[in-house]
This record gives sequence, C-alpha cells and structure tokens, in this order.
Amino acid sequence: MGLLLNPLKFTKLSKNRQEKIDAAEAKPVKQLGDYLPNRIAKALHPEVQHVVISEIVEHSPDVKSFFFAPDKELGTESLAYFSAGQYLTIRLNVGKAKISRPYSLSSSPKESTEGKYTLTIKRDKDGLASNYVLDNWKVGDKVTVSAPEGVFTYEPLRDASTVIGLAGGSGITPFLSLAKAIADGDEDANLVLLYGSRTADDILFKAEFDALEQKCDKIKVVHVLSGEEKEGFEHGFITADLIKKYAPEGEYSIFICGPQVMYDFVDKEIATLGLRRKFVRHEVFGEYRNPARNEDYPKDVADEFSLTVKIRGEETTIKCSANETILNALEHAGVNAPARCRSGICGYCHSRLVSGEVYVPKSVDGRRMADLDYGYIHPCCTFPISDLVIDVPPETTRI
Ligand code: FES
Repeated sequence: MGLLLNPLKFTKLSKNRQEKIDAAEAKPVKQLGDYLPNRIAKALHPEVQHVVISEIVEHSPDVKSFFFAPDKELGTESLAYFSAGQYLTIRLNVGKAKISRPYSLSSSPKESTEGKYTLTIKRDKDGLASNYVLDNWKVGDKVTVSAPEGVFTYEPLRDASTVIGLAGGSGITPFLSLAKAIADGDEDANLVLLYGSRTADDILFKAEFDALEQKCDKIKVVHVLSGEEKEGFEHGFITADLIKKYAPEGEYSIFICGPQVMYDFVDKEIATLGLRRKFVRHEVFGEYRNPARNEDYPKDVADEFSLTVKIRGEETTIKCSANETILNALEHAGVNAPARCRSGICGYCHSRLVSGEVYVPKSVDGRRMADLDYGYIHPCCTFPISDLVIDVPPETTRI
C-alpha cells in the first residue's frame, strides 16, 4: 500500500527524520506569512488595497477615467496584478448608505506592475454610486478597493484563439484592458471588437483603439452606430449577420459586456449562430431589477416586507420592498453588507436564510447544491416574498 493510502506510515518516522527532529533548535518556527509562497499569494490576493487618485480624465460630463496609485501611507506598497477583464469593487458611504460597486479595470495588467490602475465610470441616471463618484471624487482622494476579481478573462484552454468582443457603452472598459494586454504580449489571442454606440461622438477611447490597431495586427475594431449613418462605420445594431461578417473561418469565442438591454437583444442573435456554450461569455454587473417580469414570479406578493439581518454580532431590522434585492435594502439602510460582483456569481455576499420565503431569478442563481441544501442565499440577487431573517456568516464580513 502506498504512503498516500496508509496513514499509519506517518506514525513510524524514518530514522533520518527522527534525527532531524531531535537536532532541531527549540526556537519558534517562522510565521506562516513569512514564507515566500504566502507572501506572493498575499500580494496577488490582498483583502483590501488602499489607493489614492493620481489623475482624472474627463471624457464627457458623464464619463470619467480615474487613475489610482498605491497609498503607501496606508500600507499599500504595490498594486495586485490582474488578468484583463477583471474588476475592482469600491466601497462608498453616500449619506447614510454604505454601498459597494464593481467596476472593470480599463488599464492593462502591465500597468498594475508600474503602480497604476484605471477605472472608467459612466453616469447611470439612477446610479447612486456612479453619480456620487463622478460628482465628488477628486485628485488626492483616498479610496479603498478590493483585490482584482472576476472571470471575464481570456483562458486559452477554454476559449477559441479569436475573441469577438461585443461592447456597448461603458462595457468597452474590459476590452480596452484586453486589447492593451494583447498588444503588450501578455495575452495570446486575436480580438475583433464590435463596439456599439449611438453616435460617433459617444464612442469612448476611439483614439486609444485606433493606436492599438496600428500597433498590433491581432486587434480589429468595428464601430457600430445605432443613431447615425456615417462613412467608415457600421450602422444599426450588433446582429448575427454583422458578427458573421467579421468572424474568422472556424471557431471563435464571443465575449459580451454592456447594458442589460444589449444582452436582451444580442443573446437572441447569438443563439442563431449555434456556438458551443463555452464559447459565449457574459460580463454581468449590476442589480437585477423588476423580478415580477419573470413568468415564474409568484402571484399576489405584497409590496414590502420586514428584513432582520444578523451581522457582526448585531441584529438589525429594516424594510425591504418586493422589487429590490436584499443587498440593496441593507446598503441603503446603512448596513455594511459584504458584496463584490452583485450578480450572483462570486458568492461573496453568501448569507443564511434563517426564516422566510425568497425569490431568486433563475438567470442569476449562482448558488451551489450545498448552498441550496443548507439554506444559503446570495442577497445581491435575491428578493423577499415574505418577512425574512438572514444571518451573514463571519467569514464574509471582513470588509
Ligand atoms: S456579490 Fe457576488 S454573489 Fe453576491
């Protein structure tokens, strides 16, 4: 029987090993965090990163890029490396609300090694966070961000060698990062980007993409204008025919990032292409809204419920309306609730449903079987359909 299958072998130490133990010094062993692999792991996956805004570029009154440098005063010496397509979660106090939001990095992975991250943020007229950031952040402000997270990244073992990127509005940001990573030689893929904007004036990063196309023949960008016809641009929406027009012979992956209305349209178009499921990837940020539009939403649900949350040893009871997520209600009531992706994917908001009934839209239910068996929910995409009590476990309450 091999060593792995015979645990009793560990009780019979070889002579050699026993001698080494007997000869060892009686001083304490190193702290686990002192070992090189653990230091590297901590640098790549810090619990939080303290950064300071070093520069702001205004693309329009409603879109700005914020450049961040490590805040050495608060102990962040360098920035964690990331894969193109990942996001940072920022934390904000807006009035009494304590909110978090994920934003894709628009800078390249290489720039992170030079101490630079960039987030490009567009105003959402109903967006508490984006409005606050655009109207209040200034150079020199200190910001707390998460480690880079997310799986909207190029993976050569899974993805085809050509990625057709479908972007709408500020959904262009992860593709800018990917294009830079390809041009830098950090990703080995071809990128054909179909970028939908209303007019040519609404296109973000036109000059940057023009320069990247010039620099690297693995990148091609096609601008698709829905609100005007112009020479040198495609006109209309991103359809299956348009994708076929620019797709290579053979296999390709499709990556999509944009507003919900774009997913609703483009998903139907992509379904006609007959691609294998692994070749279609979505980035999905943001609160799921209006659950009652789903056919499986229960009938006769009241408008509002009581929500009791046990978190960090405290118990708080607030109101939660039927059409807002539990996470949204917690944040607006000033409860510092854990969250990252806000889309049911990362599991970071993972909480136990102690009592009550909830509705989770199928399209955003990322829970595992064990979560379902033991009564866990993701408050970021869960709606109340009765009064609720939930418990946020200690391991998810660190920021
Ligand atoms: S915040 Fe990611 S699953 Fe809820």
